[in-house]
Amino acid sequence: ALRASFAGKSQSPSQRASVNLQIQASFKVAVLGAAGGIGQPLSLLIKMSPLVSSLHLYDIANVKGVAADLSHCNTPSQVLDFTGQSELGNALKGVDVVVIPAGVPRKPGMTRDDLFNINASIVKNLVEAVADNCPDAFIHIISNPVNSTVPIAAEVLRQKGVYDPKKLFGVTTLDVVRANTFVAQKKNLRLIDVDVPVIGGHAGITILPLLSKSKPSVSFSDEEVQELTVRIQNAGTEVVEAKAGAGSATLSMAYAAARFVESSLRALDGDTDVYECAFVQSELTELPYFASRIKLGKKGVEAVIQSDLQGLTEYEQKALEALKPELKASIEKGVAFAQKQS
Ligand code: NAD
Ligand code: LMR
Repeated sequence: ALRASFAGKSQSPSQRASVNLQIQASFKVAVLGAAGGIGQPLSLLIKMSPLVSSLHLYDIANVKGVAADLSHCNTPSQVLDFTGQSELGNALKGVDVVVIPAGVPRKPGMTRDDLFNINASIVKNLVEAVADNCPDAFIHIISNPVNSTVPIAAEVLRQKGVYDPKKLFGVTTLDVVRANTFVAQKKNLRLIDVDVPVIGGHAGITILPLLSKSKPSVSFSDEEVQELTVRIQNAGTEVVEAKAGAGSATLSMAYAAARFVESSLRALDGDTDVYECAFVQSELTELPYFASRIKLGKKGVEAVIQSDLQGLTEYEQKALEALKPELKASIEKGVAFAQKQS
């Protein structure tokens, strides 16, 4: 679908006609934190979507140039820029999907939870504006620590009386993207065929790839399971260390977030076969929020896929029990923060 949006000179008239035929939907997407390391490439990828009619770029600074630059791409969507709190409301009015990559990234030696003190307030402030201006939108939270920022967002929406648990998502797509890449490399599989569900949360041991549920079905030795699981759990840190103080994953994150946006837009557009992993309100375990595969529909989460948790290996079952205390504490930290502020 993304390829279809490169309408231009190099295409024949019949190719251009087919592009026009595919442009049937017209959704508005807002990116909050659009001038950042994730925000810029993510906005570019969303600008390429034929499902988007309007792209609203919001940041506290430097967003005008990003929008001017992107607006020259000859793809269908209109690009509008919004700077600072006074323009936040207008950035959000009429928007169908809000993506939030605003906030500070990690440096070497930090955990995602070390970002809590700064990012919690940023997410709270932005989600309050979402509640006031586009309460029906799908909300995609990228800002870390996701295990806490999603519960914060839920509490804010609840306090404003507009919480719809089916429309609030912590973006964990990057964990799936990484799992797919690493498994394909390890097992010499075609990347396009590989799909590994990743459950739990989005930090350290709370990230649990279910290698036994990989598609296509692959068998792994115990050593391979251990090695792959640890690599997927530490992949964010791998990038933080490689960037050596210059931030965390931005390009792979933009790719992953764009995939989740495109899936959401396809679901909003009526596609009935859209599945992704995300961190959502959930009854799959005793924890109130949990990442798992979900089916997306026009109204958000249409179903949480239960079968992934059935028939786990002993390794996965142990890892699932081991992650629960940390995930529970991160969720409770987010809830307590939002309740204290109200
Ligand atoms: P960055 O510093 O490059 O960009 C962040 C942007 O947010 C900046 O442009 C900044 O001006 C903006 N910003 C700060 N406060 C704001 C506010 N109140 N309103 C609007 N915008 C605001 O950081 P980055 O590398 O883009 O990372 C952003 C966040 O995404 C970090 O918290 C990082 O940990 C997280 N992240 C999450 C995942 C994931 O898988 N969920 C992956 C990578 C990064
Ligand atoms: C990631 O997984 O890359 C992000 O959560 C950023 C980080 O801090 O690792």
